Amino acid sequence: MDIFECIQKRYSYRGSYVNTPVPREDLEKIIKAGLAAPSGCNKQTTSLIGLDDQQTLDSITSLIKKNGFGGKTAPAGICILTQQIPGYADVYFNIQDYSAAIENMLLAITALGYASCWIEGQITESAETQKQIATLLNLPADYIVVGFLPIGIPEKEGKRPSYKLFSQRAWYNIYGTSK
Ligand SMILES: Cc1cc2nc3c(=O)[nH]c(=O)nc-3n(C[C@H](O)[C@H](O)[C@H](O)COP(=O)(O)O)c2cc1C
Repeated sequence: MDIFECIQKRYSYRGSYVNTPVPREDLEKIIKAGLAAPSGCNKQTTSLIGLDDQQTLDSITSLIKKNGFGGKTAPAGICILTQQIPGYADVYFNIQDYSAAIENMLLAITALGYASCWIEGQITESAETQKQIATLLNLPADYIVVGFLPIGIPEKEGKRPSYKLFSQRAWYNIYGTSK
């Protein structure tokens, strides 16, 4: 798939997944796409845990409580971890680092024919949920759980949101000029 087609094809899928395993080879490709993302001052503050053990997946997804979370049926997933390492002085880029990694992975997931959704708010809104997932994954204290990507073949096409027009968000040379 062409990279531009892949970017346009990606969307947040919140439905159920088909019960077909994601081969470890594909999971590794997705993880490597995440690790290949740029990071501020090359501090590589993002770490990833690939999940294809059903019991672990079930435990994690059951902690993500809100309604409308179809990720519970995903046969695989990735947990996104960050370390608060400064880029320099007291300047931190770890949020930008993991955001870049997540987008790379979402594109890799799309290119491989799977669906996913960037689950972050539903985890970081609760320090308790973050802690519970960290305990489940046996994380050392300096790793913070910030996101989860369910991965699998979607049961059916999900709904796309509406987007603002190009001319409402992007301009050439000066604010407000789209030509
Ligand atoms: C930082 C961030 C946090 C997000 N957290 C969640 C989340 O917790 N749950 C969820 O269903 N979607 C979450 N999303 C997905 C957004 O809701 C989604 O990207 C947005 O509605 C646009 O839809 P699209 O991804 O289909 O283009 C998050 C996206 C970002 C960038």
